[in-house]
Amino acid sequence: DQYTEEIKAFTAAKADELEVFRIKFLGTKGLIKDLFEEFKTVGPEEKRTFGKVLNQFKQFAEGRYNEIKESLGSGPQVKESDIDLTLPGDGFEVGSRHPLSLVRNEIIDIFKRLGFVVAEGPEIEDDWHNFSALNFPQEHPARDMQDTFFIRKGDGTDDIALRTHTSSVQVRMMENGKPPFRAIMPGRVYRNEAISARAHCFFHQVEGLYVDENVSFSDLKQTLYHFVQELYGEGTKVRFRPSYFPFTEPSAEMDISCTICKGSGCNMCKYSGWVEILGCGMVDPNVLENCGIDSKKYTGFAFGMGIERITNLKYVIRDLRLFSENDVRFLKQFTTDI
Ligand code: PHE
Repeated sequence: DQYTEEIKAFTAAKADELEVFRIKFLGTKGLIKDLFEEFKTVGPEEKRTFGKVLNQFKQFAEGRYNEIKESLGSGPQVKESDIDLTLPGDGFEVGSRHPLSLVRNEIIDIFKRLGFVVAEGPEIEDDWHNFSALNFPQEHPARDMQDTFFIRKGDGTDDIALRTHTSSVQVRMMENGKPPFRAIMPGRVYRNEAISARAHCFFHQVEGLYVDENVSFSDLKQTLYHFVQELYGEGTKVRFRPSYFPFTEPSAEMDISCTICKGSGCNMCKYSGWVEILGCGMVDPNVLENCGIDSKKYTGFAFGMGIERITNLKYVIRDLRLFSENDVRFLKQFTTDI
């Protein structure tokens, strides 16, 4: 009876007070446990009444305990037992740079260290900047080298096109400034090709232009040689093969030795040991003159490369379409802190 009164009178303002109560009455070493121990020792005729009283007392104490517990728990709606603080948090996906952006930035950085600035121009170009100024004569088959998307105007003429290379930016730069020029031109270009693993209707280029007095072919070779050492690693070999572009004379294509996969058999070189990475040459004097530059006083070199190709060789990617499909399984492999 004394305890019944105590339990009735009991109130708790805090959870730890309630805990003291629980230990005293309901705990494994508590009063009720003791009484149950005592119950074992009483005679069989007393067991019935004693047992009944005891059970009532236990239920009473438990009831009071739950009552107080509930009133205390009116703060947060979630019960403590509903929160598992050991669970890991929800994943938070951080984006990553597109591989083409990574490689473009790397190319830009290398040429910046050599004193090249970055120049940009429009993707919709006129015939002059994309072709004529670059020594592509009208009706010359060289225009077919680059399958162009022409934009037909209302009057039936089509001298506007999506640029097929960023050489058009070189023309704009030379027209609008004075030598020396030392610049690279990164940007998107368009060609009318069926989309496949090896071709796309658009891709990305970095072209370069260096015009000054006494610029020679050996300057071209050394600049590009240095570029390759920086991008693909010290010891990468280069070789130049004669080629043709309307805007350069002489023209060449540059190959690099295929050490890319370090002999693991990527076969990007088709077992030849060499892969082509860019076109280059000495700026044709006609082009300099077209842009208002004295070709007796100045010479220059130019080069142009596809960023997709450089990226394919760097990461052994075999299908161009991966670059524009936005498949995160592909893209998230290129995490970096650049
Ligand atoms: N404009 C050429 C192309 O798009 C590349 C190039 C640039 C070649 C400069 C030589 C010199 O294929």
